Amino acid sequence: MKKYIVANWKMHPDSWAEAEGILDAVSQYLESVPEKDNSLVVCPPFVFLEEVGKLLNTTSLGGRVELGAQDIALTESTALTGEISGAMLQKLGVRHVIVGHSERRWKLGESDIVVNQKIETALEHELTPIVCVGEKERDDHYKEFLASQLDATFGGLSADQVSKCLIAYEPVWAISTNPNTRPDNPESTLESVRIIKDFIIGKWKLENGNSLKVLYGGSVTSKNANDFLSLDELAGVLVGGASVDKEQFVEILKQI
Ligand code: PGA
Repeated sequence: MKKYIVANWKMHPDSWAEAEGILDAVSQYLESVPEKDNSLVVCPPFVFLEEVGKLLNTTSLGGRVELGAQDIALTESTALTGEISGAMLQKLGVRHVIVGHSERRWKLGESDIVVNQKIETALEHELTPIVCVGEKERDDHYKEFLASQLDATFGGLSADQVSKCLIAYEPVWAISTNPNTRPDNPESTLESVRIIKDFIIGKWKLENGNSLKVLYGGSVTSKNANDFLSLDELAGVLVGGASVDKEQFVEILKQI
């Protein structure tokens, strides 16, 4: 099964020189191995999107790495101060966009309604939304929470729209920058992946439900990446902190 590794650089690195260093390490590694049918998506912060895009257009990295953005404006309205539109992303060669990341949901107050509209806007621009979902706490109600978050996040979208999304299961408590963080374990990730798939396939009556792609994110490192990447039911991983550590990121790439 084709695997995805999505690098979410968040607000890193501090300079273009460092960004180039990471991409250089990725390029050197990829040139040393035969091409496989996997997808590597790099989502730099907006300030580096254009430069990364140029690099992909002009070097051998282009055929092996796809460009992703970390967010998209809600609508195409030209009057949205500070936002970046889907059309702008498309012009830069962006193919994927992270939508509904928990840092935006919980720290910036992004609601399910906003996430839902962003998914639609991304699809209108032929960008693949990487839709993040996940419970804040692993308590007795987390399964119900997940189902209701999925319902609100994807509500009103068609089966065709939903099946074009990649879903990233990212339990908030597992993200490396949170206090007392710990990665989820593969068994419990699988349980959540099944909840997600059952809910989506059931509600949208997806005919080809097996093709629904769910990734895991939350403290993925070179040490545990293979535990997740080796799961057949998981389509890949979304990597934050470890994706801006070039040695560690290359170690993760070696596992697909
Ligand atoms: P992390 O971040 O790998 O640093 O936990 C993942 C994410 O927030 O997407």
